[in-house]
Amino acid sequence: MTIIVTGGAGFIGSNFVFHMLKKYPDYRIVCLDKLTYAGNLSTLAPVMDNPKFRFVRADICDRAAVYKLFEEEKPDIVVNFAAESHVDRSIEDPGIFLQTNIIGTATLMDACRKFGITRYHQVSTDEVYGDLPLDRPDLFFTEQTPLHTSSPYSSSKASADLLVLAYYRTYGLPVTISRCSNNYGPYHFPEKLIPLMIANALADKPLPVYGKGENVRDWLYVEDHCKAIDLIIHKGRAGEVYNVGGHNEMKNIDIVRMICRALGKPESLITYVTDRKGHDMRYAIDPTKIHDELGWLPETKFADGIKKTIEWYLENKSWWEPIVSGEYRDYYEKMYGNRK
Ligand code: NAD
Ligand code: DAU
Repeated sequence: MTIIVTGGAGFIGSNFVFHMLKKYPDYRIVCLDKLTYAGNLSTLAPVMDNPKFRFVRADICDRAAVYKLFEEEKPDIVVNFAAESHVDRSIEDPGIFLQTNIIGTATLMDACRKFGITRYHQVSTDEVYGDLPLDRPDLFFTEQTPLHTSSPYSSSKASADLLVLAYYRTYGLPVTISRCSNNYGPYHFPEKLIPLMIANALADKPLPVYGKGENVRDWLYVEDHCKAIDLIIHKGRAGEVYNVGGHNEMKNIDIVRMICRALGKPESLITYVTDRKGHDMRYAIDPTKIHDELGWLPETKFADGIKKTIEWYLENKSWWEPIVSGEYRDYYEKMYGNRK
């Protein structure tokens, strides 16, 4: 079994590579990644010498490079994590989101059609459903919830999902889609809420909370997401969408306060800043389908997952400090420098 994992040098993709190599020592895992600002080859250092692993630097939009890799590897399965993933960046500059997230997805599926695969899996997001109001805690996203996107990022992901389903209906390509809620855990790039707050708190820097901090996200430990994808690619039904989430809704402000407490830092570091444009209020996944069909349930309680995550950031400063001090700092200045 050979699996091409695109975006495997990023947060969730790298966790998935580790999960698969550990659980299936006979599988060949080929990581295709462009190494954008969010891709970090040092993350994959522990598996670089594994004879069952290969890393290839390429852009999923580069048809020639993608076809060459398919010709060489003849993959059975393709799991597409590669994407521009940060909502704030998509608001600043949508173009690359359309390119990678839509054109890249189509390019990969064209390769799948040309060379033949048993499964193409698209890693999507709950953001394709838009948001839910705070005063309706009874509402959840199901696979039937209409697509209703808010940001250029979520619109690009929804476009990709529609293409994936079109390739199933038109060409019979055996596809699956997973739509997951917010992940957290090791190797999370420190532009996202949880790692950014940990890094800033450790440096006694302000903790920039958008708006009033009342927006709700449904947090899932990254390993639980990897296990869900593992189940879907092996046992999920072609043509189907599976929602993945942990019934673990938290307000942003509560997460930031929790991080302050865990690190022994004062809440006076919390700084309320201008809200994100078009900011989604609440995400909440109904994971009944993946539970009933595939037996998946999240295993990590938030209290345990956040503790493990904070410990990981304390023990792995050599991974994230160069990111925070390098190119990322220019981005940080641009996004937060004038944000009062
Ligand atoms: P990430 O930004 O940490 O990593 C993205 C990876 O893709 C990086 O390694 C980057 O180098 C690579 N990449 C970007 N453009 C590429 C291109 N054109 N060609 C090849 N590689 C390219 O992202 P993440 O948080 O790990 O998210 C992975 C996937 O999961 C994305 O598709 C995202 O939409 C989806 N998702 C993320 C979350 C979350 O909470 N992080 C939740 C649900 C879904
Ligand atoms: O729901 C799944 C999505 O989760 C994925 O599809 C995206 O790829 C992933 O980035 C994530 O999107 P969010 O926008 O929810 O994540 P982010 O970490 O950027 O923000 C989480 C919440 O915290 C959101 O309400 C905005 C807020 N926030 C974020 C940052 C970076 C702040 O208040 N301050 C910040 O500095």
